[in-house]
Formats: sequence, structure tokens, C-alpha cells
Amino acid sequence: MSHFDTEAAPAKVNLALHLRRRRADGYHDLETVFAFTAFGDSLSVATAPGLSLVVEGAFAGAAGQGDDNLVLRAARALAAAAGIGDGAALTLDKRIPVAAGLGGGSADAAAALRLLNRFWGLRWPEARLTALAADLGADVPACVVSRTCFGSGRGEVLAAWPDDLGGMPILLVNPLVAVPTGPVFAGWDRIDRGPIEPGAALNSLRNDMTAAAMALAPAIGDVLAALESAGGATLVRMSGSGATCLAMYADKAARRAAAAALGRRGWWLAESELL
Ligand code: C5P
Repeated sequence: MSHFDTEAAPAKVNLALHLRRRRADGYHDLETVFAFTAFGDSLSVATAPGLSLVVEGAFAGAAGQGDDNLVLRAARALAAAAGIGDGAALTLDKRIPVAAGLGGGSADAAAALRLLNRFWGLRWPEARLTALAADLGADVPACVVSRTCFGSGRGEVLAAWPDDLGGMPILLVNPLVAVPTGPVFAGWDRIDRGPIEPGAALNSLRNDMTAAAMALAPAIGDVLAALESAGGATLVRMSGSGATCLAMYADKAARRAAAAALGRRGWWLAESELL
């Protein structure tokens, strides 16, 4: 009997990201406040003998259809860890811009783990999925959870964040410049500006990757300035290693007004809410 199922892959935003030190393994110890948006990719699955992936949607071209797609790597890792040979015909609707600081690939991999856990009837608890996810990428465990949380270590050590931000209106703006993550980390000035104290006011925190990302993609500075001058935001910040910047608003009318003010710049915009 064939069946079909679908799973949302919410976009990830970093409401704050503090870099602490470069590690011997080339990764960086950091602290971050992860949040997730109702906007995101969508992954669906149908019964099939082998594993396959078709990528559709606005950013399908940039995402790549290949065997190295993180969705297929996640599917293969889960099947191997569960000791099953079941197949899955996966279709990804790629709406999240690629190399954009929105964790698109990580969100897709995490959605694949949740979806196939259900589709294959594995009934793994979330903690077992997040443990497997850490091997797929630093942000994948947080994306498995897809709720506001505090990340440390490489980003894979997760704890609760005390504020409930669910429903908060958010505007995402990307100047349509792809920014590769590795070079932004490499461009960090290696100055430890201090930790994130859990529960700290978001406005008192930072994204320590901003200067290094702006050096690679100066348009990020234009986006941040435009979001500030549009007014009404309770927080304006670059997400991850950029180039997407986010602004949070107290209500949807304020978000709408800011989106209208930025609408003529030719940038990519998404109006959404935090989960
Ligand atoms: O884990 P992931 O493959 O998503 O990371 C992409 C790249 O980002 C890594 O190869 C590394 O250069 C950098 N990175 C880092 N420190 C982290 C997370 C990512 O240096 N905590």
C-alpha cells in the first residue's frame, strides 16, 4: 500500500549569536538564540523502493538536486541507524533562499528526520533524532526541535530559552547575495566579546558575525540601515552568517509598513511569525 505525508521545514533565525573561540577542530564555540518562522520549506514523501529526491520551488536551482543534498544524507543516516532498507520518494519545495543565514539545508535535513521517523514508523523520541542530527550539521539539532531555544557548543547543545516569542511578527530581508558560512567564520576578528546570559534582553545581545559578513557582502549594511530607518522594529539583526537580516515587530501593521517601505529595493522579503 502506498501512502503520502508532508512536513514543514521552518526557516531558522538567530536572534543573537555570540562567538567565543575557535576550536582545534576548526569549528567555533558559540552561544546563540535560535528561533523559527512559520515561513519555510516543505518536504513530502511517498512510498518508493529506493531513496530519491526532487527539488522544486523558487530556490530549487540554487539548492542542488544531487546525492550530497542534506535531505538525502539525513534519510540515509536515519535508515542506517535504524537498520532498515525502506525507501522514500522525497519532494522538497525550496522556498528558503540558499546560503542565506536561514539554515535552509539544516531545516530540510531536520524535516527529513521528523518526516521519515513517522513515515517509516520508527517512533524515535526527539532526543534520539537530535543526537543523530548533530552529525549532519551544527544547526540541524535545533532545526529538529524548531522552537525558540538556546544553543551552545557548535550550536548543537540545546537548552530552553525563557521567553515565549510564539506569534511574534517578523520580517526577513535578503539582498540576494549568497554568503558562504565558512569564510564568514574565518573573517571573525577572534575577539571574545562575552557570553549570552540565558534570559538576557535580546536588544542587549549581538550577532558577532555581522562585521565579517558585511566585509564579504556590503549590501548587508544597506539592509540593516533600511530596516532601522523604516522604523517600528523592536529588534533588527543579521541572522547566522548572513546575508538575511531580520526585524521583529510588536504587531503585523508595523511589519507591513516596514515591508512596504523596503519593497522597492529589489530585495527578497518574507513576512512571517515566529513559532
Ligand atoms: O555544521 P555545518 O556544516 O552547518 O557548518 C558549516 C561550516 O560553518 C563549518 O564547516 C564551519 O566552517 C563553520 N562553523 C563553525 N562553527 C560552528 C558552526 C559552523 O566554524 N559552530
